[in-house]
Amino acid sequence: MTQPLRLGIAGLGTVGMGVVKIIQQKAEILATRGGQEVVISAVSARSKDKDRGFDLSAYAWEDDPVRLATRDDVDIFIELIGGSEGPALAATQAAIAAGKDVITANKAMLAVHGQALAQAAEDKDRLIRFEAAVAGGIPVVKALTEGLAGNQITRIMGVMNGTCNYILTQMQATGRGYEALFEECAKLGFLEADPNLDVGGIDAGHKLALLAAIAFGTQVDFAAVELEGISAISIEDIRQAADMGYRIKLLGVAQMTARGLEQRMSPCLVPADSPLGQLEGGTNMTVLEGDEVGQIVLRGAGAGAGPTASAVLSDIIDIARGTRISTFGQPAETLSPAIKTASVTEAPYYLRMQLTDQPGALAKIATVLGEHDVSINRMRQYGHDAATAPVLIVTHDTLRATLDKALQNLPHTGVLEGTPIAIRIESV
Ligand code: HSE
Repeated sequence: MTQPLRLGIAGLGTVGMGVVKIIQQKAEILATRGGQEVVISAVSARSKDKDRGFDLSAYAWEDDPVRLATRDDVDIFIELIGGSEGPALAATQAAIAAGKDVITANKAMLAVHGQALAQAAEDKDRLIRFEAAVAGGIPVVKALTEGLAGNQITRIMGVMNGTCNYILTQMQATGRGYEALFEECAKLGFLEADPNLDVGGIDAGHKLALLAAIAFGTQVDFAAVELEGISAISIEDIRQAADMGYRIKLLGVAQMTARGLEQRMSPCLVPADSPLGQLEGGTNMTVLEGDEVGQIVLRGAGAGAGPTASAVLSDIIDIARGTRISTFGQPAETLSPAIKTASVTEAPYYLRMQLTDQPGALAKIATVLGEHDVSINRMRQYGHDAATAPVLIVTHDTLRATLDKALQNLPHTGVLEGTPIAIRIESV
């Protein structure tokens, strides 16, 4: 057996400690599968004295992750600090400059700096691997870069934020509102330090941008992702969408269109009986579509020590085996700048609105929609005691921009109360 492969691990939170423990417990498996013994040389975290319930004294300690990243006895720098800037970025850049391979779980850093980091790594003939950054334990980066490498990818979709899926599916199952479930997630420790990363769709948007770069051979472009979170979703939407045979998901969709790359992370309706519709709780799902393979569905844990460490370990074993794949599946210099396009694919939309209960109110709404070329497919008005009537409409395929123009004109009817809700229905 050759020289051991030496790791420097920065960040000893849930995932970092998970990685340390598994490397200790599975030393033999790692050595056998990778053909090389894997050892931890040094670790780094914000506090050396914190009780992590685990003896780390066998490893050198560095307070500064940049020093850790550049140590002579480190071959792979494992970045589990998080955050798009600051120490994570500084240490990753230092590791690459010092000629180390890098493994990271940091979707935010790669979504913003991925192209520059990939280019810098390749200039040094080094690798950046990031299986743990997207959908935790689901090997979706490997699926795209290796298993589906012979395909032209036509669309990728994903529910990639477990916290949002937990909130939405619990709203459905228990009838509780968004705020109550948000509080529950805070108590359970499910939310990121900045909860908007979860409920604002940013965390999932980072992941979508990374997958889109691999899938479409484009430079990662998080700024081009159309983002909409889940905080405006009400229990009425959950109930009434269910009544029409749908579930609401925070769904990421990326597809290459004739006008450019469409990347959306937003609440969508999906058929209740589809794999995405049936995804419950904090689980993630990615759906990949290729011209040769058709549709592939991957489902599994998107967060947590074991699943995320599992992804980090697969990257370690790949490097031990000598598998050398460019960061985004092809050399960084061949990735083309993504041409950003707003939603240019047509879809049906679910509309929910409150109408003054008077003769001709529905007709006025239908007229405005019709004048804007938005055709109604299904419509339902619910029994009610209040002065306004709850109305649901499912449209035929239309462009979001067309629909928005119609919605802007609905208040002129004088029969609309409040603002209508519009949610895309994704064909899955
Ligand atoms: N906060 C994320 C989630 C996990 O809820 O899925 C880390 O990306």
